[in-house]
Amino acid sequence: MNYTIEILRQKNPDSAPYRQTLSYTTDDKEMTVATLLKTLNADPDLSDIDGEPVRRIEWECSCLQKKCGACAMRINGKPRLACDTKLGEFKDGKVTLEPFKKFPVVADLIVDRSVMFRNLKNIGLWLEKEARHPKKGEDVAYEASRCLQCGCCLEVCPNFIPGEEFYSAASFVPTARVLSELPKKDKAEILGSYVDKIYKGCGKSLSCRDICPAQIDIERLLVNNNAVAVWKRFI
Ligand code: SF4
Ligand code: SF4
Ligand code: FES
Repeated sequence: MNYTIEILRQKNPDSAPYRQTLSYTTDDKEMTVATLLKTLNADPDLSDIDGEPVRRIEWECSCLQKKCGACAMRINGKPRLACDTKLGEFKDGKVTLEPFKKFPVVADLIVDRSVMFRNLKNIGLWLEKEARHPKKGEDVAYEASRCLQCGCCLEVCPNFIPGEEFYSAASFVPTARVLSELPKKDKAEILGSYVDKIYKGCGKSLSCRDICPAQIDIERLLVNNNAVAVWKRFI
């Protein structure tokens, strides 16, 4: 099968974006987009469909096992993990790779997602004492701990604008874990931030749940957080 791969490229944060189309032939339907990018970059004579030389494609990866979130990008218009997207899905052979739109581009498919980590810091999501092993809420803590901080949920959230007041799912999922690990008397500060930064802005459309590559039960964590922060049902 011959694949046509269109990539939205940008040399650096200040340069203009442009599209480049490459071609790759393989019968391996199990090959992931991550492996495809590694294979293309390993070709010293990489060229586009017109035979023009192509510079190395910038993208990020670490685990290649759906565990780190680094390889998140827009694949055929949807935020996905490159290491979890197989070429066999593209029946017409057309693959479009773009960086996330909500974050500043660093180069090609790499974006700066640091706003996500700043938001966690702003909520105060850290433990100052040893975490308690939650008797109640252990399953919530486990579910929340699966978050990859990939940012796919932020990319689709209609209410999330980087740098603005509402922090979205990449913040409320880890909040669920910390809330379940904190003793009741130490929850107040995080609960206040939660109401301001998440509860007030979330439209509960749950686009974040449908796109999450870790298939986290986001609705359940949202309901759990709201029960604790708004309805004062402490876990
Ligand atoms: S909640 Fe899901 S989509 Fe959002 S950052 Fe975590 S793993 Fe990624
Ligand atoms: S439920 Fe909707 S508004 Fe709330 S974080 Fe998810 S996508 Fe955004
Ligand atoms: S490289 Fe770690 S999730 Fe894809």
